[in-house]
Amino acid sequence: MQPISRRGILLLGGLGVAATAVGGAGLLWGSTIRTPPGPQFAEPAELASEAGRLRVRLTAAGRRVRLGGRDVSALSFNGGIPGPTLRLKAGDRLSVRLRNALTDPTNLHVHGLHVSPEGAGDNPFVMVEPGDGFAYEYELPADHPPGVYWYHPHHHGTVADQVSGGLYGAIIVEDPEPIEAARERMLLISDVNLDGSGRIAVASPMARMLGREGEIVLVNGQVTPRLSARPGERERWRVVNTCVSRYLRLRLDGQRLQLVGIDSGRFRNPLEVEEVLLAPGNRADLLVTTRAGTASLRAAAYDRGGAGGMMGGAPAGSLSGAVLLATLAVSGDAVAELPAVSAQPTPRDLRSATVTARRELSFAMGMGAGMGGGGMMSFTINGRQFDAGRVDTTVQAGSVEEWTLVNDSPMDHPVHLHVWPMQLMEENGRDAESVLERDVVNVPARGRVVVRIAFDDFAGRSVYHCHILDHEDNGMMGVIEVR
Ligand code: C2O
Ligand code: CU
Ligand code: CU
Repeated sequence: MQPISRRGILLLGGLGVAATAVGGAGLLWGSTIRTPPGPQFAEPAELASEAGRLRVRLTAAGRRVRLGGRDVSALSFNGGIPGPTLRLKAGDRLSVRLRNALTDPTNLHVHGLHVSPEGAGDNPFVMVEPGDGFAYEYELPADHPPGVYWYHPHHHGTVADQVSGGLYGAIIVEDPEPIEAARERMLLISDVNLDGSGRIAVASPMARMLGREGEIVLVNGQVTPRLSARPGERERWRVVNTCVSRYLRLRLDGQRLQLVGIDSGRFRNPLEVEEVLLAPGNRADLLVTTRAGTASLRAAAYDRGGAGGMMGGAPAGSLSGAVLLATLAVSGDAVAELPAVSAQPTPRDLRSATVTARRELSFAMGMGAGMGGGGMMSFTINGRQFDAGRVDTTVQAGSVEEWTLVNDSPMDHPVHLHVWPMQLMEENGRDAESVLERDVVNVPARGRVVVRIAFDDFAGRSVYHCHILDHEDNGMMGVIEVR
């Protein structure tokens, strides 16, 4: 079986004229200049499991790739940005042979999958040196929640560089009962800065402190791709925010938008929405029922705070600016409407669970000791920076814990826990109205969020961290051990 190493798999529409006409400096690539229509929407290659098995070879390498309609030097899995989409079912076994053809160490993380963190599983402590490889084995439980997940490197210190360089791909865990739709689309959103010679730009210390945002915002490696449909069609859109720091307040005005779920969480009935906020790392599972006309998929501006006065007095803000992501043209003969979606499998509601332990995790930014004027800011959880050799949180397997996530800083931090999903209970004193299970929970600047976590099924060592990957690389990560 060889579904492996397919080159040039990303079917970039050959018409990438929109942003390439001018070439030259990065300026013209910025989100300020947009001339839709862009290229025809294309998706990454897909590798699907058969008879409960998927074997994949992923080679991480730096090379010339097509990105945003032109040739750039970037990082990629198997030569495509994004890497191939892995399509699985609950109960499947996924084998990934990772080969590191980069010049730095790397590894692989399957973000959001509920699998063992030990050994050759979803183990963030594995380190794969340049030239080496590693064979990962992931076993999905038979009751693994359906949804959209993703994979990316997780080697502490280089995560932001490697993910924004192009190393990411999607994972789909199929529904036990398919949701009827005219088509399914995968949209991986990323942002990047290129230098004058078409290389990924090196992020400045300031950008690493605030969390870098790229001027070029891509959907499956394309700038403002064009989608088309007929009126009345129901489409399934799976959207992944792979950006290092950019928040996406997604809108598709003029079209009917229903949210099936976020991350591994799912609503019993899809929720009618106008807007969906995806923090870095989050995914949305959406239904779009089309109406005639041309619509813009865009992200509205989101203010994720700043570090005013913390960088030697200079006010430093960070705004995820408004950006056009794609256009959807709906025309032609209308099709008959599909029946309403049947009730969906929902996660266990932990609001009535017996809580066995309560903890507080406090996320802070400050000038580290001996880091005077111009030095890097330190990013800490409960006053400590990440140390792979230290266990910060020990949890009893099978228990349900309640964590209060406190943000003592002037910026938002999207907090992520591996393996075990979190149920959002309360944000800034307001109770959650429904069961909201997710693996990245945004903790607003100077705010607090309460979550509950069921430490079911798996024991072992893993991590939690801020999913602004620059913050994680700067130390905002802790080690958890479930035993
Ligand atoms: Cu998507 Cu620990 O990361
Ligand atoms: Cu993760
Ligand atoms: Cu952060």
